[in-house]
Amino acid sequence: MDNIFTGRSLAVIDDLTIAERRYLFEQTKILKTALAENDQKTLDRFRINDPDFGMYEVFLEDSTRTRESFRNAAKFHRAKVSDLATDSSSFNKGESYADTFNTLAGYHNSVFIIRSKLEGVCRWLEDEAGAFAGRNNLSRRPSFINAGDGKHEHPTQELLDGFTFLEDNNWETSSIHLALVGDLYHGRTVHSKADGLRIFDRVRIDLIAPPELAMPETYRMKMVENGFEVRLFDSIDEYLAQQDVADKWYFTRPQLERMGEQILKRQDELRAKVTFRKEFMKYLPKGSKFYHPLPRHRVHPTIPTFLDDTPLNGWERQSINGMYVRIVLLALIAGKIGAEFAGEAQKKGRNDEEYILQVESNGTSADKKEDAYSEGVRPIRNGLVIDHICRGDDPATIRRHMALIIKVMGLDDGKGGEWISTSKKDSGQFKGLVFRPGTRELDRKDLKRLAAVAAGCTLNIIRDGSVVAKYRTHLPPRIYNFDDLACNNEACISHPSHAEGVPARFERTRDNRYACAYCGTVHTFKEIWK
Ligand code: CP
Repeated sequence: MDNIFTGRSLAVIDDLTIAERRYLFEQTKILKTALAENDQKTLDRFRINDPDFGMYEVFLEDSTRTRESFRNAAKFHRAKVSDLATDSSSFNKGESYADTFNTLAGYHNSVFIIRSKLEGVCRWLEDEAGAFAGRNNLSRRPSFINAGDGKHEHPTQELLDGFTFLEDNNWETSSIHLALVGDLYHGRTVHSKADGLRIFDRVRIDLIAPPELAMPETYRMKMVENGFEVRLFDSIDEYLAQQDVADKWYFTRPQLERMGEQILKRQDELRAKVTFRKEFMKYLPKGSKFYHPLPRHRVHPTIPTFLDDTPLNGWERQSINGMYVRIVLLALIAGKIGAEFAGEAQKKGRNDEEYILQVESNGTSADKKEDAYSEGVRPIRNGLVIDHICRGDDPATIRRHMALIIKVMGLDDGKGGEWISTSKKDSGQFKGLVFRPGTRELDRKDLKRLAAVAAGCTLNIIRDGSVVAKYRTHLPPRIYNFDDLACNNEACISHPSHAEGVPARFERTRDNRYACAYCGTVHTFKEIWK
């Protein structure tokens, strides 16, 4: 039987379906019990037990828990464990991520655990090192596990958090009420919650942070789209002034050192808003639990140490669970367990819907008064007309977008023009129109480019005074393979400033915007061009 987990990568938590995550949690529960009972027979069912199965840790940012729990998990498996000395590696000579990881993959390593400031590294390497493995006949295609990338995601932390929430929820997945407290802006662990908490059917989430540390809109919107009931509070004081208080609180460390002078001047005030105090205890529902991905700051902990020896303490067990979850994840990737899984698997198929539709032109005369596209005072005999640009937007937006279309389509040479008119049906609704006389031919790639920059438009091709072809453009499901695309997140691996040679790729979101395929940053279709 095929094992769908073998050789998988984990760049974001959504790389595992809900059913796959629940399966991983069930297996972790079995493993944890077996470890507690020293049940060697069950433990052997999980063990990879292969000294040639290589796990490589590459940490370009500091870590204790993630790095050491993975190292100990690999030792449980009796696998080969390596750790790149990043401070003295050839990264410092300007070597790219692709060349570095291809090199290490060539030394028969199967799984890479990567922490990096750059976002989307694992998604890029999955493709790049996969191609390297193919052309060099390596026995395994390497897997990449994101151990935290910038402000983006920390999917294995999400797995151990989810496991711990379930443990404290009596394995009930029907609902969770969770308060996220602290630095929701920088915290990748709370960003992973936007998809991670989908393991629960009903999610009530309370975001407690002052505006300076608030959850970025991308993740807040994702939570809403995922059906979560989201409320916002400025501080713990404000939160506890109302009655509906969560029984699970997830604290994070304010990363104020990443913010400017002005914020640092106000650090005591900002920290106070997200730090728990003794007098708050009486407002907590019975059976409440606190969690923290850790580390907590030794001088300014948001969960003060006087709480360590209280029933609120869920964070210590949460941290210990990290190794169990990671043992199971490695066992799945190695194909040691998971063959019998029969739940919903990750879909590999692409959305290949058509987005350039040819519509009936009937050889309409372009001279006809109602359809005439004129070159100054004369109707066009030969040329192209892009019509209905940004219909309904204001004239200034339409003008800016026409300039972008002209640039992206290379229409900035020769004759022609553009104008803004109102719709025949609604004189209050503006639209833009670009025309270019001549006999320029457009191929499929040009049409793709047009759909990507001018969705919702009509393209008319005019020859000898007649419209010989007419196309309607729709938003493509994916936009890629154009040199002048760029993600506007400076921390993204594909951002041109990093010179990693990563071509920008975007995928359409449910609300018809474009998410970077690497870092997930959401753009409008107008924002993806350099
Ligand atoms: N929670 C977590 O990622 O901790 P480390 O930074 O110590 O790995």
